[in-house]
Amino acid sequence: MEYINLGKTSLKISRIGLGAWQFGGDAWGPYEYGIAKEVIGKAVELGINFIDTAAVYGRGRSEEFVGRAIRELGIREHVVIATKIPGDWHRYDDVLKAARRSRERLGVDVIDLLQLHWPACWHNVPICETMKAMEKLVEDGVIRFIGVSNYPLQLLEAARSCLKRSEIVSSQNRYNLIERDIEKELLPYLQREGITLIAWSPLAKGAVTGKYSPENRPKGDLRENEPVFYPDNLREITTKLIPVIKELASKYGKTPAQIALNWLVMHDNVVPIPGAKNAAQVVENAGAVGWRLSEDDFRRLTAASNSLVITYVTW
Ligand SMILES: NC(=O)c1ccc[n+]([C@@H]2O[C@H](COP(=O)([O-])OP(=O)(O)OC[C@H]3O[C@@H](n4cnc5c(N)ncnc54)[C@H](OP(=O)(O)O)[C@@H]3O)[C@@H](O)[C@H]2O)c1
Repeated sequence: MEYINLGKTSLKISRIGLGAWQFGGDAWGPYEYGIAKEVIGKAVELGINFIDTAAVYGRGRSEEFVGRAIRELGIREHVVIATKIPGDWHRYDDVLKAARRSRERLGVDVIDLLQLHWPACWHNVPICETMKAMEKLVEDGVIRFIGVSNYPLQLLEAARSCLKRSEIVSSQNRYNLIERDIEKELLPYLQREGITLIAWSPLAKGAVTGKYSPENRPKGDLRENEPVFYPDNLREITTKLIPVIKELASKYGKTPAQIALNWLVMHDNVVPIPGAKNAAQVVENAGAVGWRLSEDDFRRLTAASNSLVITYVTW
């Protein structure tokens, strides 16, 4: 496994993390605790030490599974636990309360990274009110580091300017070979400022693995309504991107998922956090690092991605 510093801190996190939304057992379909434990155990065995969960994943269930597995496996000192507070709970008192509840569900003394899951879009809580609470949590030892997620650049800058004694160390945003809007302004800013980009849906929820097509769309989970899996988009993906991914997979002796994750890792400060349905997927995803695509192949993949015409207007 390769490691990278979280933001400008001295905390080392693995170049590939583990997303724990799947453990919630709702959006992604049923998920048994035993599988979650196996997935976490395998991830840590392979050197993955960064686990991302959130209060909203299964309304606390994912946090409970992560905490319980870490306890039962006795691996607390080997993992960096990141969780998130939803944008609806960004008032000062609610931030404090939500963080303590997450800490309880996780069963840890301190949350390593607490992220604001999305901006307080329809609540109009002033950003400095929220950041003041986050800073208080650091001072009280409830959390170690502060991160944001899905914040536009301007709001991230405003949030940073509110902080007096702490820094925002990470920004978690959607980033994969199909969805690259972050490159337009946020990613260059994060690279300049030494803020880690934690890439969510790094496999485009499985769309870059070549398993799905307009004739074979995923069923029984949130992907039924996910724009990327809209037939016209899947057609673009399967005709223009997947053939290049598959060709590179066979050239490098890797799988399509590993090629897609390696393309992300080739960006200096990017840490993908693929979710996993089972231990075999974790093994595969951990194998996405320890090697690199050549510059030529990186550019080829980027060009294939550039040629995609994707729309979110699906009805
Ligand atoms: N901050 C945010 O707003 C936000 C939003 C979304 C996600 N996240 C975080 O990011 C994490 C990852 O994103 P995500 O779960 O949305 O999507 P993802 O990681 O892009 O895709 C995960 C799905 O891809 C498939 N998969 C995983 N590994 C595979 C492999 N090696 N080969 C083939 N298929 C594989 C699995 O589904 P199938 O096997 O069923 O195809 C799995 O459920 C989440 O778990 C969560 O922690 C954060």
